[in-house]
Amino acid sequence: MTTAQPLMAAISLAPLLLIFFFTGPVVSWRPWPNTNPNSTDLLYGGSKKYEGSSEFVHLKYHMGPVLTANITVYPIWYGKWQSSQKRIIREFIGSFSAVNSKPPSVSGWWKTVQLYTDQTGANISRNVHIGEEKNDRFYSHGKSLTRLSVQSVIKSAVSASTRPLPINPKSGVYLVLTSDDVYVQDFCNNVCGFHYFTFPSIVGYTLPYAWVGNSAKLCPGVCAYPFVVPDYIPGLKAVKSPNGDVGVDGMISVIAHEIAELSTNPLVNAWYAGQDPVFPVEIADLCEGIYGTGGGGSYTGQMLNGKDGATYNMNGIRRRFLVQWVWNHILNYCTGPNAIDQ
Ligand SMILES: *[C@@H]1O[C@H](CO)[C@@H](O)[C@H](O)[C@H]1NC(C)=O
Ligand SMILES: *[C@@H]1O[C@H](CO)[C@@H](O)[C@H](O)[C@H]1NC(C)=O
Ligand SMILES: *[C@@H]1O[C@H](CO)[C@@H](O)[C@H](O)[C@H]1NC(C)=O
Repeated sequence: MTTAQPLMAAISLAPLLLIFFFTGPVVSWRPWPNTNPNSTDLLYGGSKKYEGSSEFVHLKYHMGPVLTANITVYPIWYGKWQSSQKRIIREFIGSFSAVNSKPPSVSGWWKTVQLYTDQTGANISRNVHIGEEKNDRFYSHGKSLTRLSVQSVIKSAVSASTRPLPINPKSGVYLVLTSDDVYVQDFCNNVCGFHYFTFPSIVGYTLPYAWVGNSAKLCPGVCAYPFVVPDYIPGLKAVKSPNGDVGVDGMISVIAHEIAELSTNPLVNAWYAGQDPVFPVEIADLCEGIYGTGGGGSYTGQMLNGKDGATYNMNGIRRRFLVQWVWNHILNYCTGPNAIDQ
């Protein structure tokens, strides 16, 4: 798609979970497992052999490009960000290609994403690094953004008079991160992040991008699960977050989700399940809420506990993170580096 589209009705399938409806030409999700066991049966006929596995999942390649060249992530820090928060996110992204993290590692998690290829047989790049960053400290487009105004934020960042972000349509990932006082259309209402590509009519280029919001003030029980649990689910206990910042630790898994999907489906014409590109179910959607062996339904799966009592499932540069698993199209189930043999 190279011109601005009218907003289309889109759907996000939360595979083991519910079916969520929302409007907008994007893909989005929320991380927490819900408690309706029967929606899984409706969607997948209840044939579950491994974490998230099903013979009813038909993830297909639709011939479009994937990110096979070295990937550069350009963070756009929208609103007020502390340097400690930025550091957690930078070190997470820096961990994708780190060679010496202790297993289970973020780079081990990224290996599942590398299994996806394009028409030429080229794999998703193993190299992911942070590029130039842009601060948008004064909320250039206000404290309430729509899906389309997120593109205007990117436009401002790539056309700034001082130090504009580079234009990199082939292997750039423009990551708009909004601070905890910013609302984005549909945020909290099942949506914690999304990815899509920019329209030339707004930005001047077709650039793959993602948005992820800090939910700490607005809806941590939705988007920072399991570090905060929703009040309306009795008996569910929150776990301690690994980097001491519930909002940012919650964003980590959403950032992982969106970068994994963006890399395998940057123009929404490559890897997805479902019949309709308007309603793509992508590699991270299929494993939403699964962080370890046995995960599915309302169970996160087996995670790890640090000496400090924090819960995590993988190691990165200097830190630990809790990151959802992604779909492995060779094995036909969700996999992650902390899987244990059963
Ligand atoms: C889910 O389905 C099972 C069997 O189909 C049924 O026994 C059960 O009551 C259902 N649960 C809910 C919450 O509807
Ligand atoms: C890709 O990244 C690797 C590792 O950082 C580097 O050695 C290589 O030169 C890069 N390739 C290109 C084309 O930039
Ligand atoms: C590239 O993808 C193919 C097909 O999924 C897979 O067999 C191979 O192991 C992948 N290579 C890397 C380096 O991940």
